[in-house]
Amino acid sequence: MTPTRPPLTTLPRDLLSAADYERLAPDFILPATWAWLAGGSGDERCLRESRAAFQRWRIVNRVLQDLAGGHTRVAVTGRTLAHPFLLAPVAAQKILHPEGEVAAARGAAATDGVLVLSTLSSLPLEDVAAAAPEALRWFQLYFQPQREVTLDLLRRAEAAGYAALVVTLDAPVQPASRRALAAGFVMPPEGRPGSLARYAPPPRRELGADDSVVFQGLMAEAPTWADLEWLLAQTVLPVLVKGVAHPDDVRRLRALGVAGFVVSAHGGRALDELPAPLDLLPAVRAAAGADALVLLDGGVRSGADAFKALALGANAVVVGRPAAQALAVAGALGVAHLLRCLREELEVVMALAGCATLADITRDALWRDRAGEDTSC
Ligand SMILES: Cc1cc2nc3c(=O)[nH]c(=O)nc-3n(C[C@H](O)[C@H](O)[C@H](O)COP(=O)(O)O)c2cc1C
Repeated sequence: MTPTRPPLTTLPRDLLSAADYERLAPDFILPATWAWLAGGSGDERCLRESRAAFQRWRIVNRVLQDLAGGHTRVAVTGRTLAHPFLLAPVAAQKILHPEGEVAAARGAAATDGVLVLSTLSSLPLEDVAAAAPEALRWFQLYFQPQREVTLDLLRRAEAAGYAALVVTLDAPVQPASRRALAAGFVMPPEGRPGSLARYAPPPRRELGADDSVVFQGLMAEAPTWADLEWLLAQTVLPVLVKGVAHPDDVRRLRALGVAGFVVSAHGGRALDELPAPLDLLPAVRAAAGADALVLLDGGVRSGADAFKALALGANAVVVGRPAAQALAVAGALGVAHLLRCLREELEVVMALAGCATLADITRDALWRDRAGEDTSC
């Protein structure tokens, strides 16, 4: 087995961006873990497209603007955040760093970020809250096969001070990553979901000879519209939904009273034929309405990427793999440093593009890069 380096406690001078963390991270985790983290579903088309979509846009500079009062603040679910970068729910973070999600939460707290804790976090949601009470935390909810377990998770998240729910809807079936399979990835014991450890597994569903593992198996336990309506009636927390792409679904969810949307392709790990989240974003914004909260994740790697997402309709962006890689390289320090880099990059782009506030970032600032249309990568 390839030895891995212990996490850094000081940052080298050449560690300056999300790309640098991506370059370094494979030294700090096992090759199979890297395959699990980096990979996507199917042919990884959606994974590649999610990045390529950002390359199709450039940003036009503006001159002579008075930006002395500029800032990156944004109002989200009744709170004012210092910057528009949130940490995506990423499962099993103890396989990336010994302190797992606690280190991620501390890194977020140090830089006014929001940690969205996965249902599949390796540490129980209460432990993360107790170790980083100062961190602004949201809880990502996967519906569980038994309603009473879903409700118990919700109550525990409320009791532990999670300020919003993010309900992930795009992966009732999650295709395996061929990259992870080929690398022999098996979830190590420390990566098992700590918040779910206390629940008995759901009763085994017996499938007949003609039954489909997908339809009569997994989808028979997947949430439906009735489950979502039920959930909304159970809590006063703001509920965002993650992974909703079709305008009809967006309108229906909006009518049901969801607080916001995370435009997402699950990091290219669900439907491989889904367009890039950045390309889906304008239609989701149009369907959700100007007042809705719309976040974007998938391929955000820089302040310029955040600028483009905001110009195309997002209020804020969510980062998955970059934060996981920063966690692997340098724990809380890495996560905090990554968020600071992203924020500073965004400030510089805003300054050069003549935008004093996030509200000033509009579609007019973007230039369609025809050369970038070659998505053969
Ligand atoms: C290793 C890994 C684990 C993930 N686990 C979850 C999860 O538990 N719940 C969830 O809603 N999304 C999960 N996601 C998706 C992320 O929340 C997010 O949508 C995606 O990573 C964003 O794309 P990016 O990695 O390009 O930033 C996971 C993604 C990765 C890479």
